[in-house]
Amino acid sequence: MTDTTTDFLETAQARGSHGRQQKDGVLLVRTIAMPADTNPSGDVFGGWIMSQMDLAAGNMAARVSQGRGATVSVEAMQFLRPLKVGDEVTLYATLTKVGRTSMRIHIDVWGRPRMSEQSHKVTEAEFVFVALDEDGKPRPIPRD
Ligand SMILES: CC(C)(COP(=O)(O)OP(=O)(O)OC[C@H]1O[C@@H](n2cnc3c(N)ncnc32)[C@H](O)[C@@H]1OP(=O)(O)O)[C@@H](O)C(=O)NCCC(=O)NCCS
Repeated sequence: MTDTTTDFLETAQARGSHGRQQKDGVLLVRTIAMPADTNPSGDVFGGWIMSQMDLAAGNMAARVSQGRGATVSVEAMQFLRPLKVGDEVTLYATLTKVGRTSMRIHIDVWGRPRMSEQSHKVTEAEFVFVALDEDGKPRPIPRD
Protein backbone atom coordinates (compact mmCIF):
# COMPACT_ATOMS: atom_id res chain seq x y z
CA MET A 1 0.00 0.00 0.00
CA THR A 2 1.27 3.47 -0.84
CA ASP A 3 2.13 5.41 2.31
CA THR A 4 0.77 8.79 1.25
CA THR A 5 0.14 11.51 3.82
CA THR A 6 -3.63 11.13 3.25
CA ASP A 7 -3.51 7.36 3.83
CA PHE A 8 -1.49 7.83 6.99
CA LEU A 9 -3.74 10.59 8.39
CA GLU A 10 -6.56 8.05 8.73
CA THR A 11 -4.31 5.54 10.52
CA ALA A 12 -2.90 8.25 12.77
CA GLN A 13 -6.39 9.56 13.61
CA ALA A 14 -7.43 6.06 14.67
CA ARG A 15 -4.28 5.76 16.77
CA GLY A 16 -5.01 9.05 18.54
CA SER A 17 -8.69 8.27 19.10
CA HIS A 18 -8.78 6.29 22.31
CA GLY A 19 -12.21 7.79 22.96
CA ARG A 20 -15.33 7.79 20.84
CA GLN A 21 -15.31 10.31 18.00
CA GLN A 22 -17.72 13.14 18.87
CA LYS A 23 -19.02 15.93 16.68
CA ASP A 24 -16.08 18.07 17.75
CA GLY A 25 -13.38 15.39 17.81
CA VAL A 26 -12.22 12.96 20.44
CA LEU A 27 -12.93 13.72 24.10
CA LEU A 28 -9.50 13.91 25.71
CA VAL A 29 -9.93 15.95 28.89
CA ARG A 30 -12.93 16.65 31.12
CA THR A 31 -12.52 18.67 34.29
CA ILE A 32 -14.23 21.23 36.53
CA ALA A 33 -13.14 24.88 36.74
CA MET A 34 -12.23 25.61 40.37
CA PRO A 35 -11.85 28.90 42.32
CA ALA A 36 -8.02 28.60 42.12
CA ASP A 37 -8.31 28.80 38.30
CA THR A 38 -9.76 32.31 38.16
CA ASN A 39 -8.35 35.68 37.14
CA PRO A 40 -8.71 38.79 39.37
CA SER A 41 -12.16 39.46 37.84
CA GLY A 42 -13.48 36.09 38.98
CA ASP A 43 -13.77 34.51 35.51
CA VAL A 44 -11.70 31.46 34.64
CA PHE A 45 -8.16 32.48 33.72
CA GLY A 46 -7.35 32.18 29.99
CA GLY A 47 -3.93 30.72 30.83
CA TRP A 48 -5.58 27.85 32.71
CA ILE A 49 -7.78 27.09 29.69
CA MET A 50 -4.71 27.18 27.42
CA SER A 51 -2.86 24.73 29.66
CA GLN A 52 -5.81 22.32 29.54
CA MET A 53 -5.77 22.62 25.74
CA ASP A 54 -2.04 21.92 25.64
CA LEU A 55 -2.61 18.84 27.84
CA ALA A 56 -5.36 17.56 25.54
CA ALA A 57 -3.33 18.15 22.36
CA GLY A 58 -0.23 16.64 23.98
CA ASN A 59 -2.23 13.59 25.02
CA MET A 60 -3.30 12.98 21.42
CA ALA A 61 0.18 13.77 20.05
CA ALA A 62 1.78 11.22 22.39
CA ARG A 63 -0.55 8.49 21.16
CA VAL A 64 -0.17 9.38 17.50
CA SER A 65 3.63 9.67 17.65
CA GLN A 66 3.99 6.87 20.21
CA GLY A 67 6.36 8.83 22.38
CA ARG A 68 7.61 12.14 23.54
CA GLY A 69 6.83 15.46 21.84
CA ALA A 70 6.64 19.22 22.31
CA THR A 71 4.32 22.05 21.35
CA VAL A 72 5.97 24.06 18.58
CA SER A 73 3.13 26.48 17.80
CA VAL A 74 -0.36 27.54 18.80
CA GLU A 75 -2.44 29.32 16.18
CA ALA A 76 -5.89 30.81 15.80
CA MET A 77 -6.63 30.85 19.53
CA GLN A 78 -10.11 32.25 20.03
CA PHE A 79 -11.83 32.90 23.36
CA LEU A 80 -15.49 32.91 22.38
CA ARG A 81 -17.24 32.96 25.77
CA PRO A 82 -16.13 33.08 29.41
CA LEU A 83 -15.99 30.06 31.69
CA LYS A 84 -17.24 30.32 35.27
CA VAL A 85 -16.19 28.52 38.44
CA GLY A 86 -17.99 25.19 38.68
CA ASP A 87 -18.41 24.83 34.91
CA GLU A 88 -17.73 21.38 33.51
CA VAL A 89 -15.00 21.86 30.91
CA THR A 90 -14.65 19.34 28.08
CA LEU A 91 -11.86 19.33 25.52
CA TYR A 92 -12.12 17.63 22.13
CA ALA A 93 -9.17 17.02 19.82
CA THR A 94 -9.11 16.44 16.08
CA LEU A 95 -5.92 15.43 14.27
CA THR A 96 -6.09 17.46 11.04
CA LYS A 97 -2.63 16.90 9.58
CA VAL A 98 0.32 14.63 10.11
CA GLY A 99 3.71 15.40 8.62
CA ARG A 100 7.10 13.72 8.84
CA THR A 101 7.70 14.78 12.46
CA SER A 102 4.80 17.15 13.20
CA MET A 103 1.10 16.84 13.98
CA ARG A 104 -1.57 19.54 13.69
CA ILE A 105 -4.33 19.13 16.27
CA HIS A 106 -7.47 21.25 16.49
CA ILE A 107 -8.82 21.68 20.03
CA ASP A 108 -12.39 22.69 20.86
CA VAL A 109 -13.29 23.55 24.46
CA TRP A 110 -16.89 23.33 25.63
CA GLY A 111 -18.29 24.60 28.92
CA ARG A 112 -21.41 23.43 30.76
CA PRO A 113 -22.66 25.42 33.74
CA ARG A 114 -22.88 23.15 36.78
CA MET A 115 -26.68 23.30 37.02
CA SER A 116 -27.46 23.25 33.29
CA GLU A 117 -27.68 20.63 30.54
CA GLN A 118 -26.75 23.25 27.93
CA SER A 119 -23.12 23.29 26.74
CA HIS A 120 -21.47 26.02 24.70
CA LYS A 121 -18.16 26.29 22.90
CA VAL A 122 -15.85 28.63 24.81
CA THR A 123 -12.45 28.38 23.09
CA GLU A 124 -10.69 26.82 20.11
CA ALA A 125 -7.18 26.75 18.65
CA GLU A 126 -4.75 24.86 16.43
CA PHE A 127 -1.79 23.20 18.12
CA VAL A 128 1.27 21.89 16.30
CA PHE A 129 3.30 19.23 18.12
CA VAL A 130 6.65 17.82 17.04
CA ALA A 131 7.67 14.25 17.94
CA LEU A 132 11.03 14.30 19.73
CA ASP A 133 13.78 11.75 20.28
CA GLU A 134 15.74 11.29 23.50
CA ASP A 135 17.97 14.25 22.62
CA GLY A 136 15.03 16.59 22.07
CA LYS A 137 15.46 16.51 18.25
CA PRO A 138 12.57 15.98 15.83
CA ARG A 139 11.98 12.27 15.13
CA PRO A 140 9.87 10.70 12.38
CA ILE A 141 6.38 9.67 13.44
CA PRO A 142 6.12 5.85 13.19
CA ARG A 143 3.98 4.98 10.18
CA ASP A 144 3.21 1.34 10.95
C1 LIG B 1 10.30 21.42 18.52
C2 LIG B 1 11.71 21.75 18.02
C3 LIG B 1 12.66 20.63 18.42
C4 LIG B 1 11.63 21.81 16.49
O1 LIG B 1 12.90 22.16 16.03
P1 LIG B 1 13.07 22.71 14.53
O2 LIG B 1 14.51 22.97 14.34
O3 LIG B 1 12.07 23.78 14.25
O4 LIG B 1 12.70 21.44 13.70
P2 LIG B 1 12.37 21.34 12.17
O5 LIG B 1 12.66 22.60 11.44
O6 LIG B 1 13.04 20.06 11.71
O7 LIG B 1 10.79 21.14 12.13
C5 LIG B 1 10.22 19.97 12.64
C6 LIG B 1 8.75 19.94 12.23
O8 LIG B 1 8.06 20.98 12.90
C7 LIG B 1 7.39 21.82 11.97
N1 LIG B 1 7.46 23.17 12.52
C8 LIG B 1 8.55 23.80 13.03
N2 LIG B 1 8.22 25.02 13.45
C9 LIG B 1 6.89 25.16 13.21
C10 LIG B 1 5.96 26.21 13.43
N3 LIG B 1 6.31 27.36 13.99
N4 LIG B 1 4.68 26.02 13.06
C11 LIG B 1 4.29 24.85 12.51
N5 LIG B 1 5.12 23.82 12.27
C12 LIG B 1 6.41 23.99 12.62
C13 LIG B 1 8.17 21.67 10.67
O9 LIG B 1 7.37 21.99 9.55
C14 LIG B 1 8.52 20.18 10.72
O10 LIG B 1 7.38 19.43 10.38
P3 LIG B 1 7.46 18.07 9.47
O11 LIG B 1 8.66 17.27 9.91
O12 LIG B 1 6.19 17.33 9.78
O13 LIG B 1 7.55 18.50 8.05
C15 LIG B 1 12.24 23.10 18.58
O14 LIG B 1 11.58 24.17 17.92
C16 LIG B 1 12.03 23.21 20.06
O15 LIG B 1 12.68 22.53 20.86
N6 LIG B 1 11.09 24.10 20.48
C17 LIG B 1 10.75 24.24 21.88
C18 LIG B 1 9.56 23.33 22.23
C19 LIG B 1 9.02 23.64 23.61
O16 LIG B 1 9.78 23.87 24.52
N7 LIG B 1 7.68 23.65 23.72
C20 LIG B 1 7.00 24.06 24.91
C21 LIG B 1 6.93 23.00 25.96
S1 LIG B 1 6.32 21.44 25.38
